[in-house]
Amino acid sequence: MPNKTITANLMTELNLNQNPNQNLDQHLDQKETFNIWAASLQVRMEDVLNTHMPTAETIPTRLHEAMRYSTLGGGKRVRALLAYAAGEFCGAKLATIDLPAASVELIHAFSLVHDDMPCMDDDDLRRGKPSTHKKYGDAVALLVGDALQSLAFQFISQDKLLKNATQKLQMLHILALASGSRGMAGGQAIDLDSIGIPLTREELEHMHIHKTGALIRAAALLGAYSAESPAEDKLKAIDHFAKSIGLAFQVVDDILDAEADTQTLGKTAGKDARNNKSTYVTILGLSAAKQLAAELHANAMAALSYYGREADLLRQLANFITQRSF
Ligand code: IPE
Ligand code: IPE
Ligand code: MG
Ligand code: MG
Ligand code: MG
Repeated sequence: MPNKTITANLMTELNLNQNPNQNLDQHLDQKETFNIWAASLQVRMEDVLNTHMPTAETIPTRLHEAMRYSTLGGGKRVRALLAYAAGEFCGAKLATIDLPAASVELIHAFSLVHDDMPCMDDDDLRRGKPSTHKKYGDAVALLVGDALQSLAFQFISQDKLLKNATQKLQMLHILALASGSRGMAGGQAIDLDSIGIPLTREELEHMHIHKTGALIRAAALLGAYSAESPAEDKLKAIDHFAKSIGLAFQVVDDILDAEADTQTLGKTAGKDARNNKSTYVTILGLSAAKQLAAELHANAMAALSYYGREADLLRQLANFITQRSF
């Protein structure tokens, strides 16, 4: 089914209508429209990050080079896409979503750099390249994480397009909570504490909600708060949607770790079982993990059931997250 709302608004704002005589609505189905939208925003996010991060020539050059190496030129940018989709849903302009979306990508990149270090998951490969510590050494990798984290908060605090100071403060608060000991870092701590100790299903859910779900939820909320006055009902729907899809994201990551190959993933496959990790696959098995991913996808869709086409990007993103192959 062609999606006129998405196509008309976004194609114009993204400058994709190179030929005004060509009516894309007639030729594209929803999935194709989404793919074009996602591809253009992935490029846009690369540009935003490239422009706003310190150059590799800025002293200290090796640290800045390593920060750029860890952030640019790879990744699906799912968190940024979620921020853009949630922002669009709540009526934000694309440009206003840029830096909040980029801030979440920075925290995410930082979490990956540390996640790969020998003291954590010990993975040599990330996004198809040597992990940051393999290329720059452990000390630089630690500092890359520190510096990317600070830069994320700087991106929001210095954003001149966010006019409402109270809203900006709220966004900083959301990101801080999602990144710290009651969010991503806390989930990572539980992950490491549970090596070789099988978690219960409740404990597993708690860990996943924190290590991955929290930042995904923050991405959606930051996108929503980029709008000048997001409607209360839409904020609630986004929050419900993001909680379900955030958990689904890590369940699918666990499944892919067990099923996909290293080349497709761009990171070492089969790592969870080898590292004695508690995951939905290692604890419940592949089939139960897949069933859970489908249930969480359905929950996420249910959160949007009241809405029409204005929620289609979020729906397509939920499909992408649960059907992805890497
Ligand atoms: C991988 O995240 C780490 C998890 C939190 C599961 P992504 O699969 O989003 O990684 P990139 O950004 O696309 O490389
Ligand atoms: C990563 O979980 C969570 C964070 C980085 C916060 P994983 O350890 O499963 O991620 P991958 O599989 O290495 O990307
Ligand atoms: Mg890990
Ligand atoms: Mg890992
Ligand atoms: Mg994993």
